[in-house]
Amino acid sequence: MKLLEDRILSDGEVIDGKILKVSNFLNHQIDVAFLDQLAQEWVRRFSGVKITKILTIESSGIAIGTSLARAFGVPLVFAKKHQTSNVNEDVYSAEIFSFTHGISYHVVVSKKYILPGDSVLLADDFLANGKALQGLIKICNEGGAQVVGAAIAIEKGFQNGGDELRKSGVKVESLAIIDKMDSDGIKFRD
Ligand code: G4P
Repeated sequence: MKLLEDRILSDGEVIDGKILKVSNFLNHQIDVAFLDQLAQEWVRRFSGVKITKILTIESSGIAIGTSLARAFGVPLVFAKKHQTSNVNEDVYSAEIFSFTHGISYHVVVSKKYILPGDSVLLADDFLANGKALQGLIKICNEGGAQVVGAAIAIEKGFQNGGDELRKSGVKVESLAIIDKMDSDGIKFRD
């Protein structure tokens, strides 16, 4: 999506060829009106798909998730991060390994908010190795909910998370896919 690609080019900063900082509109200061514009693009891409809930992970996913929930007229649920596994029977949990941070963490979602019959659209700001989305998919499976796709703002196409999820049948709709980023600049997938 050109709107997002242009914003990344004007406001993004590449750190060590690995991390894209987009703190002034997505990860720290949030341009809410801009995220609402992105959400309209996902409404177009998921038109005709039944969606009853948006599911994301705290913290940065919540902003994207809020715009999506407003655009689709459904609730937003966010998985909460815990350092240790939670054996509480009232929650679904998943362990997620973050390559970016080199640590594992657990996320939990109350069983009250993921129900059999739900059609869930996953959402996140970044998709890199896909472990966060895999954790959310596990939670949906345990809750008997159907995953109808994933709405991602920025996919790092040079890591393989997005392509693996697509191969496994998930409809991943990333609005900007970066195939290369270094000191020479950022190259988007066509
Ligand atoms: P994965 O889920 O696709 O496997 O990705 P990974 O573990 O590598 O990413 C973990 C965290 O790092 C996520 O945020 C993700 O949004 C963020 N992240 C990954 N690559 C980038 C990047 O290039 N730029 C920025 N700004 N963030 C990136 P998190 O740790 O869950 O933190 P939060 O910000 O959502 O609280």
